[in-house]
Amino acid sequence: MNHLLQALKEKIRDRTAKVCVVGLGYVGLPFAVEKAKVGFSVLGIEQNPQRVALVNQGDSYITDVDSQSLQQVIRSGNLTATTDFSFVSKMDAIVICVPTPLTKNLTPDLSYVESVTQKIAEYLQPGQFITLESTTYPGTTDEILRPILENISGFKQGQDFFLAHSPERVDPGNQRYTTKNTNKVVGASDPASLEVATLFYSQTIEQIVPVSSAKAAELVKVFENTFRAVNIALVNELALLCDRMKLDVWEVLDAANTKPFGIMPFYPGPGVGGHCIPLDPHYLEWKAKEFNFETRFIALAGEINRRMPEFVRQKTWRVLNDVGVAPSQSHVLMIGVAYKKNLGDWRESPAIRIIEFLQADGVTLTYHDPFVSEIQVKAKTFYSQDLTEELIAQADLVIITTDHSQIDYVNLVQKAKAVLDTRGVTRHLDCDRTKVTLL
Ligand SMILES: NC(=O)c1ccc[n+]([C@@H]2O[C@H](COP(=O)([O-])OP(=O)(O)OC[C@H]3O[C@@H](n4cnc5c(N)ncnc54)[C@H](O)[C@@H]3O)[C@@H](O)[C@H]2O)c1
Repeated sequence: MNHLLQALKEKIRDRTAKVCVVGLGYVGLPFAVEKAKVGFSVLGIEQNPQRVALVNQGDSYITDVDSQSLQQVIRSGNLTATTDFSFVSKMDAIVICVPTPLTKNLTPDLSYVESVTQKIAEYLQPGQFITLESTTYPGTTDEILRPILENISGFKQGQDFFLAHSPERVDPGNQRYTTKNTNKVVGASDPASLEVATLFYSQTIEQIVPVSSAKAAELVKVFENTFRAVNIALVNELALLCDRMKLDVWEVLDAANTKPFGIMPFYPGPGVGGHCIPLDPHYLEWKAKEFNFETRFIALAGEINRRMPEFVRQKTWRVLNDVGVAPSQSHVLMIGVAYKKNLGDWRESPAIRIIEFLQADGVTLTYHDPFVSEIQVKAKTFYSQDLTEELIAQADLVIITTDHSQIDYVNLVQKAKAVLDTRGVTRHLDCDRTKVTLL
């Protein structure tokens, strides 16, 4: 019998286990708050001192965490944040939620994961549980984390410490499916680690789905995001074809989606953005090469989705031509720069690429986004403007790049000279359709 395992399970069950969340971003902060709410003592380790200060003041900077909930767990003493890694030595469970971006050459950049794992290894104690939530290629936990932890500490996984992968599935802004009621996949390469992981996550999540290895859990997550990327690419390709065939892609998709089985709604748009869909499939694509295997769906989906901002640029030229203004003389108002509706996240947002293109065409650009007050594109800072009637009226064209719910689209179309709707948000509205061009 492993006494370390029994002691850890006991602490998790009676919620005296001390939980450490490394990286307090879109994934880490909601997770830390959920754990603190059910009575765990949670410490957030975050490298950004401004974020640490905000958390400790109870000031949330993440849409899915309201400041009131944050203040409650801060006041109760169940959550605190620090930049100091030495506290790892006092923890029982350590959850890694740091970024996993791509390099410029579309290869995995695991530098954040490696660097925090090294720091954790320096303070590792017998009986601790480490879990990686960051999205990554199959093999990361076993091939990168395990050797770092074992070599630096001298401890053995499954005996002295426990290690698992449990991919985060959060859908920022989703009100129906939150951390609590979204099934959680866990995988580990030894039975003791899987046991701990299952118990740990079942404290705050309704349904746990254990799989036989960390590798399988890693593949589950990248497959889920690949599934989305490929299906989005499929409807984007349909949009490109419909444009040539002079068919309305939205009408086609709305009708196709009435089939009660065998189809799933996906919609075209100006391109994909955020930290997941444009990046994660390339993690798998890269790893597959090690097995002399080409993931052709991934490559094709990436290629089609990356073409969409250029398509929006071409449609912009066409609409401007119709209203009789040359791009270099035109004023374009962009509605939404976030990659997704009702969020303030503009990482990898297709709107940024479109702005780059239109800037190169000499277009004068302004934007309005209720969630993003400023953005930087090629060293130029743009600030969100109030959506006044004058702002709308002075634009030769309004491009809807993000379909935020709080915009009054009927009024927008009424006041605008012309609208390019890349999200299909106006298609069912009672407005002057002659002014609107759909993607
Ligand atoms: N955002 C999502 O919707 C989402 C959903 C599922 C999975 N994921 C995955 O989860 C992981 C984290 O994503 P995110 O969106 O939360 O990222 P994020 O950028 O919002 O948050 C990461 C946090 O980690 C901090 N950090 C970076 N290096 C650090 C270090 N050395 N020490 C301590 N803190 C450090 C950053 O300052 C930041 O606050 C990624 O792998 C991502 O692919 C994200």
